[in-house]
Amino acid sequence: MLILGIESSCDDTAAAILENDRTLHASVLSSQDGIHRPFGGVVPELASRKHLESVYPVVAEALQRARITLDDIDLIAVTQGPGLIGSLLVGFSFAKAISAVTAIPFRGVDHMAGHILSVFLEEERPTFPYIALIASGGTTSLYLAEGYTSFSHLGRTRDDAAGEAFDKVAKLLDLPYPGGPHVARQAAGWKGDLISFPRAWLNEESLDFSFSGLKTAVLNHCRQQSQAGSELAVGQVCASFQEAVVDVLVEKTMRAARRHGIGTVVLGGGVSANARLRQALATRAGEQGLKCFMPRPAFSTDNAAMIALAGYHGFIESGPSAIDSDVYSRSSL
Ligand code: KG4
Repeated sequence: MLILGIESSCDDTAAAILENDRTLHASVLSSQDGIHRPFGGVVPELASRKHLESVYPVVAEALQRARITLDDIDLIAVTQGPGLIGSLLVGFSFAKAISAVTAIPFRGVDHMAGHILSVFLEEERPTFPYIALIASGGTTSLYLAEGYTSFSHLGRTRDDAAGEAFDKVAKLLDLPYPGGPHVARQAAGWKGDLISFPRAWLNEESLDFSFSGLKTAVLNHCRQQSQAGSELAVGQVCASFQEAVVDVLVEKTMRAARRHGIGTVVLGGGVSANARLRQALATRAGEQGLKCFMPRPAFSTDNAAMIALAGYHGFIESGPSAIDSDVYSRSSL
């Protein structure tokens, strides 16, 4: 079965061609980072306009790279939500339109399911059940995955998502958007002492996250330094902030695995491109005898290959989506 995956939930237009749930023939992504950079964050109106321009060429390029045409496609998998409604509507309407004129079935996919399953795009694949930590610009959540379409939500952020915190701290430090990779680069270059920023553990039981207090602590530190006339050590702030985020993400993932008696942890979402997080999770998992799987950075951030993969399993399980189905802004998972 050849699946055309389409992703347009936020600020990247992506298309991929996947064979069953294993062989990736093409993965194309058109990034809008340059458009949103001057604003320090995604501007929804600009995002949807750019998706309109990009969706056709991106899909055409994916088909071309895979050396096939639409006639070869058996299923169209497309992100249905969560995300920015205007952005989602572009990819979703495009997929429905192709489906209506070609009679190729289409399947709406929850973007979070894509992230939870993105690790299956790698050679080394986990077995169910596993705990998935999904940390991106829009969400930070822990899931118990018991099958390709069976996910229980164990914890979520109560305020900022981890990636959002990275982006906001970057903005505070005058680093470009999206801030995560820039904060990570600055942090990697710092070899000195770390500032002890707070970790929000919430309570002993909680698998929820909170990053707004940490963001405020960084802001207060920057203000204090400026009032004292001291030069801000940007690398130190980035490394200390990153360490605080990583500590909480890793500890809560371990806590979830312990509580549910699960021997495998999986990482996904844009923040899982963070080298320090990958290293810390792999180390802690190893120490505790857990298996740890993570997709390569290109499959950690938004992509259409994971949507094709999740769409394939959704289709196998429950068939195509109805032509009158609609996009949604909040995850159904
Ligand atoms: O999953 P994703 O591509 O899409 C959205 O949620 O929109 O995640 C993007 C997020 C951004 O907040 C970005 O700053 C963050 O992932 N990110 C990183 C790194 N690379 C991307 N955060 C920390 N370290 C990184 N290396």
